[in-house]
Amino acid sequence: MLVYFVTDEPTKLPAIRAMLEPQHAVVPWVLDSDGTGIRAHGVLMVDVDLRQMPRADQLKLILQELTAVPERLFVVPAHARSMVAQAYALGATAVISRAKEAVPKIAQIEYAESAAEAAADPALAMDSGAAAFASMFSNVRLGRPLKVADAKRATSEIVQRVGQDGLSTWLDEVRRYHEGTFQHCLLVTGVAVAFALDVGFSERDVSRLGMAATLHDIGKARIPLSILDKPGRLDPDEEAIIRRHPAIGYDLLRGVAGISPEILDGVRHHHEYLDGSGYPDGLKASQISDLVRLLTISDIFAALIESRPYRAPMPRPDAYEILRSMEGKLEGALLRAFRNVALGS
Ligand SMILES: [Fe+2]
Ligand SMILES: [Fe+2]
Repeated sequence: MLVYFVTDEPTKLPAIRAMLEPQHAVVPWVLDSDGTGIRAHGVLMVDVDLRQMPRADQLKLILQELTAVPERLFVVPAHARSMVAQAYALGATAVISRAKEAVPKIAQIEYAESAAEAAADPALAMDSGAAAFASMFSNVRLGRPLKVADAKRATSEIVQRVGQDGLSTWLDEVRRYHEGTFQHCLLVTGVAVAFALDVGFSERDVSRLGMAATLHDIGKARIPLSILDKPGRLDPDEEAIIRRHPAIGYDLLRGVAGISPEILDGVRHHHEYLDGSGYPDGLKASQISDLVRLLTISDIFAALIESRPYRAPMPRPDAYEILRSMEGKLEGALLRAFRNVALGS
């Protein structure tokens, strides 16, 4: 079998060769060098330090050429737990920890059944919230069924982390390491959970809002990455495509066991505004539930404070001012209640 080995460190090559050859042919691809013309068969193995943004960006470009390679195994150092979710965000179908075994047997690559199972590796459990989230998202992107257990695991992990360490710690950590849509959804869930805890929601309602936030943009898993990750403004056609994501998410989740009507409502309606100017259904105030109102505020706030390669994150007070200027579309009383969460006071 052909094993395409993408790395940022040529010094890692001899060990891989010693381990895999002659049974398997190793085709190296060192970042900064020209590509090797990878074909659709074979296995892709990636060993790159994803904590270095320029490295992750280079790798992203390479992976865009390789969407036809079905199995993508990422090797991450055991101590770099944040790299696990990052790996899934970049399209890994399985992630292994280097401490467990320096290089896996090819059989393990062949039989790595799903990203979710790899994420269940106890060595990687510390970042399991983000990893479960990322594996859920990549499953949907690959056309596999959504695993509600992944969403539940991600949500309860985030509820625990935000409850324990506070929202600011969560925001800092997520913004440092996670890619576009993943970062956004992890931030929205953190913000929504902090909001629910701050206004004294019951444990059940915190989880309910958390699950709605975890899943709110799941429909984006079916939107082309070229549109999702496009830096700068979208043209009207691209805008129309991205505006389909609430309905796509709703269709993906409708009828799935464990998904309550409130979650479906949040997924479909988190872009609705009280004045009827939102989408996809143009709902008016009386038709928009409290859970959706909280989710919408959390969603907009998180989008404003995200960190993107092409712009610095907006300071939280500035983001809060923008939200305040949207009173009428968003509920005034809720915006005032959100002040503490937004400003971290
Ligand atoms: Fe959305
Ligand atoms: Fe969103």
